[in-house]
Amino acid sequence: MKGLVLSGGKGTRLRPITFTSAKQLLPIANKPVLFFCLEQLAAAGVTDVGIVVGDTEAEIRGAIGDGGAFGIQATYIRQDVPGGLAHAVKVSESFLKDAPFIMVLGDNLLRDGVTSIVEEFRADPCNCQILLTRVKNPNQFGVAELRDGKVVRLVEKPKEFISDLALVGVYLFDRNIFKAVNAIRPSGRGELEITDAIQWLLTGGYAVRPHLVTGWWKDTGKLEDILEANRMVLDGIEERIVGRIDTGSRVEFKVALEDGVVIENSVVRGPAAIGAGTRIVNSYVGPFTAIAGGCTIANVEVEHSIILEGCTIDGAGSRIIDSLVGRNVVIRKGDGQPRAYHFMLGDYSGITLP
Ligand code: DAU
Repeated sequence: MKGLVLSGGKGTRLRPITFTSAKQLLPIANKPVLFFCLEQLAAAGVTDVGIVVGDTEAEIRGAIGDGGAFGIQATYIRQDVPGGLAHAVKVSESFLKDAPFIMVLGDNLLRDGVTSIVEEFRADPCNCQILLTRVKNPNQFGVAELRDGKVVRLVEKPKEFISDLALVGVYLFDRNIFKAVNAIRPSGRGELEITDAIQWLLTGGYAVRPHLVTGWWKDTGKLEDILEANRMVLDGIEERIVGRIDTGSRVEFKVALEDGVVIENSVVRGPAAIGAGTRIVNSYVGPFTAIAGGCTIANVEVEHSIILEGCTIDGAGSRIIDSLVGRNVVIRKGDGQPRAYHFMLGDYSGITLP
């Protein structure tokens, strides 16, 4: 079985971060979402993996290379326009050829990985297997209607309620999917939808088997979802206390520190992860926070947030929560008059003031 990982797309819901960075490389507990996907494929014995890339190809290639570090062999497939998930399948036909394959969305995170689902498909092949889970906001996903345990209808982002069973971003197909992706027309949002392609299979009498996911699953396409995924992964993190922690500091409850971390006169309360070489000074880092490497965090309280590499936050007692901060951002307390907020924000930035 081959693997197909979708790492193209535009990431518009995560601007401005996605102006300069691929959304699949945003870190969850200091590890890019895409790395989880590739490691889970390798764990399931799927090692021949095509990675669909768009405008952020160079960045994805830089992070993944030949895939050896993840136990896979990566083949890059260029998708010139983000024409939809079914379009991504279409452009991958020459890589996939006749092999059955598992398709994974590179911004999706599945707690229990894909091993059992791959084993199920290998043992009992069908034309298509979909993964489903109950959600509170089905209008934001593709959904499936089941009757007597069988799939009867699939709709992408339904305006009216038809089912709360969302399509999780993991799909298994045999080569009949190419007939489907070549037959369907673009949706209202101008994309070739994989949901419509699977509906085409269903209508044509092909076997589409549902599998209900039990562990948590997260699509990390929006800020609140990234923060939630970060929470879920940090919750299961293994403690690792290294680096230099002075006697005036406390590091409590499941904190993973990377090499070279310095903690001075601060409290770090886990679950939390702090990346290599980061300095935490006169600060409080609260639960569910991931701070990447090379940051300086001083005179501030940070909680339930993700801070990317190289940031300097020197906040003179301020408190930052529920935030995602991009690379090399500087947030500091001004030292003169007028006492006002001073911003230099990228397009589509978002700020909430107290
Ligand atoms: O997360 C699950 C949902 O993913 C499903 O429930 C939906 O049925 C499915 O359509 C999809 O919806 P999204 O609107 O969330 O898909 P998104 O545009 O975020 O793309 C998902 C991933 O695929 C993302 O990593 C980017 C990549 N992608 C996307 C498009 C449109 C590509 O590689 N090429 C593309 O053309």
